[in-house]
Amino acid sequence: MDGTSPHDGRALSGLRFSAATAAFQVEGARTADGRGRTIWDDFVDTPGNVSDGSTAEPGPDSYHRVDEDIALLSGLGVDRYRFSISWTRVIPDIGASQSINETGLDYYDRLVDVLLAADITPEPTLYHWDLPVALEAVGGWLNRDTAHHFADYASVVAGRLGDRVRHWYTINEPASTSLQGYALGELAPGRALLFDALPTVHHQLLAHGLAAPMLREHGALQAAPTLNHSLILPATETETDLAAAGLLDAIMNRLFTDPLLVGEYPDLSAFGVQMPFADGDMELIAAPNEVYGFNYYNPITVRSADGELPFEMVPTPGAATTGFGPMWPIRPDTMRDFLIDLHERYGAQLPPIIISENGAAFPEPETTTTEIVDTERIDYLSSHLSAVLEAKAAGVRIDGYTVWSLLDNFEWAEGWPQRFGLVHVDMNTGTRTPKASYRWYRDLIAAANA
Ligand code: FCB
Repeated sequence: MDGTSPHDGRALSGLRFSAATAAFQVEGARTADGRGRTIWDDFVDTPGNVSDGSTAEPGPDSYHRVDEDIALLSGLGVDRYRFSISWTRVIPDIGASQSINETGLDYYDRLVDVLLAADITPEPTLYHWDLPVALEAVGGWLNRDTAHHFADYASVVAGRLGDRVRHWYTINEPASTSLQGYALGELAPGRALLFDALPTVHHQLLAHGLAAPMLREHGALQAAPTLNHSLILPATETETDLAAAGLLDAIMNRLFTDPLLVGEYPDLSAFGVQMPFADGDMELIAAPNEVYGFNYYNPITVRSADGELPFEMVPTPGAATTGFGPMWPIRPDTMRDFLIDLHERYGAQLPPIIISENGAAFPEPETTTTEIVDTERIDYLSSHLSAVLEAKAAGVRIDGYTVWSLLDNFEWAEGWPQRFGLVHVDMNTGTRTPKASYRWYRDLIAAANA
């Protein structure tokens, strides 16, 4: 076994291991105990939006089966569990008459207690894409007020859980919300505003900037967003493809790293957009965080185009692919290179990185009575962990690694068929069956802690 093999316990020691889920993807129970509606409720209830017509219910139904989930986490031996809190379970109606739904908060209160009793550090994300419909009705993330509403919500949750929760994530993957949700309309809220969507970036970053100090006032030791990144590869070395790759890199990556780490936006003149920032915003956004939450799945290959967008995504030549097909190539080397570049580009401004999501879906049966032998997932995770270790060996500070996902779950516009779990879930009965990758991850964590 070579020195950087993820199976070498010594190389892995010092990394904290976690597994992730998100409220809308695993909880089900969309109308239970006074939960209010979100943009994802509207999205799934509109025929044609979700590939298989599913509506996130019943699915894993973690709202009712959370003890089983925690037993699975215990069996894995993870240090942490990254889950998300549903804004509208906590505040069902945003507006003049808004009130706090203590029953909704009770669910998370108990989840935190059971995790702590199992010696697992709770690591909630406050916003994993499920915006209250009342906020979307007045512009959603296009409206600056949404950032302030988010900070109010963060303060309510921290008021209840902050005595026990010290590690928070604020906003998950603002790039996905802005680009796929508001620019292209592939995800909720399904708006296709192209570059006019870019102000949603600023308001999400501001939401983080306003909420993080409140979480710290409640004792947080970590209050960071999670950012999804992809290394952008030009389809050819022609000047036009290189320029197209530069533009997409600016929108997918630099648009987030620059404001968070150096307090300014990259040059957006090519897109004809001005970010709507007010005095003091950039200081809030760039206030140092304890960690940098880093989600990575795949690189993107791009060539220049003459349509509404100046670039077009194309398959990555020679790469194996996941269940999503040619647009989800498997290239762990690009994760390593991205991490090293981030470290070199931002130096001391970059806090220690936590890999806050990494994983892959492959075609798997809807039901099973035996363990699924998901060798492709094990290979994917193993090779990406090797990439993490290589980046560490090159000097990048990386403190943690998180598998997406603990469970098969509702994969947004793709519905149930794209299964990412270490644990298989029968979406009709909720039955959980650990896959071979669960055993693999359990053994790896045990080796790291030995
Ligand atoms: C990420 C999302 C997560 C999950 C994975 C596959 O972009 O944060 O909820 O859907 O992709």
